[in-house]
Amino acid sequence: MVREKLISGAFRGEKTPRVPFWFMRQAGRYLPEYRALREKAGGFLEMVYDPEIATEVTLQPVRRFGMDAAILFSDILVVPQALGVGLEFSAGEGPKLAALSDDLSDIPDFDAHAFEAALSPVYETVRRVRSGLEREGFSECALIGFAGAPWTIACYMVEGGGSRDFQRAKFLALSNPQKFQILIDRIVEATVCYLRGQILAGAEAVQLFDSWAGVLDGQSFARWAIDPVRRIVEAVRREFPLVPVIGFPRGAGGMYPDFARASGVDVVGIDSGVGLDFAVRNIQGVKTVQGNLDPVALLAGGMAMERAAHDILEALSKGPFVFNLGHGIIKETPPENVARLCEIVREWKP
Ligand code: CP3
Repeated sequence: MVREKLISGAFRGEKTPRVPFWFMRQAGRYLPEYRALREKAGGFLEMVYDPEIATEVTLQPVRRFGMDAAILFSDILVVPQALGVGLEFSAGEGPKLAALSDDLSDIPDFDAHAFEAALSPVYETVRRVRSGLEREGFSECALIGFAGAPWTIACYMVEGGGSRDFQRAKFLALSNPQKFQILIDRIVEATVCYLRGQILAGAEAVQLFDSWAGVLDGQSFARWAIDPVRRIVEAVRREFPLVPVIGFPRGAGGMYPDFARASGVDVVGIDSGVGLDFAVRNIQGVKTVQGNLDPVALLAGGMAMERAAHDILEALSKGPFVFNLGHGIIKETPPENVARLCEIVREWKP
């Protein structure tokens, strides 16, 4: 019989004997061993599509810190790329995509065969990470797969890259909702396919990153952040009823309780701006909560970090909870601070 992993219990809504933890962007530039491999590989996407390198990078933080979960090393933007959208990461500049036209007449088709072929190296990485975790003695560590939520992916496709407020995406969603819906539906279809591929290859939970959910007003949030996620969750659950889905609508603020009730996710990831009392009262009563130490507190370390971590553990460890950051690790973060944080969480007695 296979014993359930600690973090899987928390994902399913159980209170666990110890608080499980992992960190968004736990694999990345703050680790010297990542930078060394990055140098050798030449570029970020070269790493993502090389299963040997991507496996190695996924395992690096687990070897150092022993998190309760590994997160697949990839990127949310491989989905538009596999739909045929040009993608580039130039050093220090962030992603550049071929932007969609103003009338959205060039929304890419979904060709399942081409899509799956483009993403097969990622599925191979998932398989290798699962066997790597077993082989290296991390049999308690779960592997989390992921995708971007449709709103955030649409934001990058419309804008052609990052943006402060994604005004163009919001404008098109408001002024041409029929066409924008077609774009979102296309991304929903592709994302379900992509998550299915990851789960079949061995992902034990999946997270949907909605990094730009926070730019939406209430009505738009229901239509573009909750509804598409709900449809993805339904499709995943129909096929894989035991695989937990984590939703992370970053910046959702007062709309978090609606998201927790209506999106269907098992776990709600909260950013650092969500008050702890608010989370306990309005989110944890409904779903498992994951979060929410400010990555800047991790960067700062010392007493500021310890105090912030203790407050979170004190408030949230009474219910189903997975400790995480409120957003990804900042690249200047000293690895020693991460080691200290792991110690604090591991030793905490709820
Ligand atoms: O460790 C992990 O969390 C797993 C891997 C992972 C990456 N990106 C690796 C990465 C995950 C889960 C992501 C998700 C992702 N990618 C999001 C959602 C989460 C968030 O941060 O809001 C978004 C918006 C992206 C798109 C993206 N990828 C941007 C905007 C950038 C450039 C910003 C930056 O930090 O340079 C990336 C690049 C990226 N993705 C890096 C890593 C490790 C840095 C690449 C490098 O230079 O080595």
